[in-house]
Parts: sequence; structure tokens; C-alpha cells
Amino acid sequence: MAKEKARKVTRRFFFGALGKGSILVALLAEAIGAIKAFIPKVLYESPSKFKIGFPDDIPEGITFLSENKLYIFREGDDFYAISAVCTHLYCIVDWKPDRKEFYCSCHGSIFSKDGINLTGPAPRPLPWYPLSLAPDGNLVIDSSKQVSLDYRFSI
Ligand code: FES
Repeated sequence: MAKEKARKVTRRFFFGALGKGSILVALLAEAIGAIKAFIPKVLYESPSKFKIGFPDDIPEGITFLSENKLYIFREGDDFYAISAVCTHLYCIVDWKPDRKEFYCSCHGSIFSKDGINLTGPAPRPLPWYPLSLAPDGNLVIDSSKQVSLDYRFSI
């Protein structure tokens, strides 16, 4: 008799604990949802103006800056920058030195060395960005603006 009573208490304790645990989990999930509601859903994008390094550190020719998704060209003391983002669906274009063209492997668009769309679905040329010098001597690119294909920044 005493043994049977002990088993009933255990079952009651188990279901009681299960019920309390379920309520606790539900309250915790509700609290997390309430806290998340106060965190703004903001898409943090990189700033449109950024430094890319000192002019002397940029080699002659074409350099891909993967972090900034652009190509920087150096011709002596002249610099210019072309976006590496395809104007079709925003894949990164590759520079093909043997053909002197940019190639987008996503859907096959080809751009000239100046970024002009030659073939494929890309609807527009690759944008060119203006450069300037920061007070500390770094080259600065402003990707919020565009310049024409004859743009050169001279140091
Ligand atoms: S994303 Fe470049 S061709 Fe489609």
C-alpha cells in the first residue's frame, strides 16, 4: 500500500514538473521574442566612402580589392577605380588579363577593360568611382558617386 502511494506521488511529481517546465519554456520564448522586438532590424552596409591604402602601396596595373568589391587601376601616378559588381545580378566579375576583359561567371556577361558591357545580360557598364586623398595620405573612394570613363586621379 505504501509502495503504491509512493509511485502515485512520483507520477504526480513528474507531471507537475513537466507542466511547470512547459510554462517556464513558453515564458522564456515569449521573453526572448519581446527582447528581440527592441533590437532594430537594420541592414548594416559598408560606408560609401572608404580608404584603400597609400598610393605607394598600390602596385602598377590592376589590383582587385575583394573587401571593397572593386578594381583599382594604377598607371604611373594616375589612379582610377571600377566596381567589380556585375550590373546584372550583382555577382563579382573576374579580370581576365589574357583577354583584357572582365568576365562574370554567373551568366556570362563580358565587360571591356573600361567596364563597358560587351555581351551577356548585364544592362549597364561597371560603375567608375571618384578618388581623393585623405589628410593622412590614404586614397579614398566614394562609391556613392560615379565618374566618366576618362576619369583619372593624379597624385
Ligand atoms: S550576374 Fe553577371 S551576368 Fe548575371
